[in-house]
Amino acid sequence: VRRILVCANWKMHGTVASVQAYLETLIAQAGAADAEIVLCPPFTLLPAALLIATGSSVAIGAQNCHWADKGAFTGEVAAPMLAELGVRFAIVGHSERRHHFGETDATAAARAQAAQRAGLAVIFCLGETLAQRDAGETFAVLERGLLVGAYEPRWAIGTGRNATPAQAQEAHTALRRRARELFGDEAAERLRILYGGSVKPDNTAALLAGNDVDGALVGGASLDAEGFCAIIHAGPGRRSGA
Ligand code: 13P
Repeated sequence: VRRILVCANWKMHGTVASVQAYLETLIAQAGAADAEIVLCPPFTLLPAALLIATGSSVAIGAQNCHWADKGAFTGEVAAPMLAELGVRFAIVGHSERRHHFGETDATAAARAQAAQRAGLAVIFCLGETLAQRDAGETFAVLERGLLVGAYEPRWAIGTGRNATPAQAQEAHTALRRRARELFGDEAAERLRILYGGSVKPDNTAALLAGNDVDGALVGGASLDAEGFCAIIHAGPGRRSGA
C-alpha cells in the first residue's frame, strides 16, 4: 500500500512571516488527512519552517542539494547540512534546475545519491518538454532519467496546462514498469510516483484517480494555504499496490 504524498514546492517564493501563517493553517488541517504532506520552502525558510512544524504531521523538504557532502562549491547547500537541520526530503532534478541551471540526468542522479547518503528521501523529478512529447520521445526521456520519481512534463509546469489524467497514468505506468525491470517488483511497488504540472484543487481528484499516480508535486497552487489544503483533501489517502 502506497501512502499518497502531496508536496508543496514554493520555488523562490515566501517570507519568514508567510511561512508561519501558512504552516499554522496547513498543520491545523493536515492532522485529518491520510496523505503524507511535505513543504519545500526556499533554503532561507527551512529553520523557521522546521521550528513551526516540529511535532506536526507536516514534513519539511529542500528544493535541491549538492552532490558532494562538503567542499568548495560557493552558493550550494550539502545534503548533510539539510539533514542536520531536520530536513527529511529533497527535491532533485527539478525541470527548472534543468532548464535554467544546466542540471542533467547525471548531475541530478549524483545529487540524489548524496541526499540518500544523508538519509533524506528523494523526490526525483523528470519529464519531457513539449517538443519531446510531440516528437514521440516521452517514454525515452522517462526511461533515461528514472531513479525515484515525480513525473513533471515540462510543458505543464507553470503553464496552467496540466497533463490529462490518462496522460499522467500512462507515463506513471511506464515509469513503474521500468522501475520493475531495474529494481525488482517489490521496490517498484513501493515507489511513489508523483505528478507535477499545473495541479490545482479542481483537477487533483481526476489526476490522482490513476492507480499509478501516488501523489502530487504542486507549484503555484501550493502558495496559498487554503488552496493547498483543498488539494490535500481532494485526493485519496492511500493507493493499494497493484
Ligand atoms: P506548477 O504547479 O506551478 O505548474 O509547478 C509544478 C512544479 O514544478 C512543481 O514542482
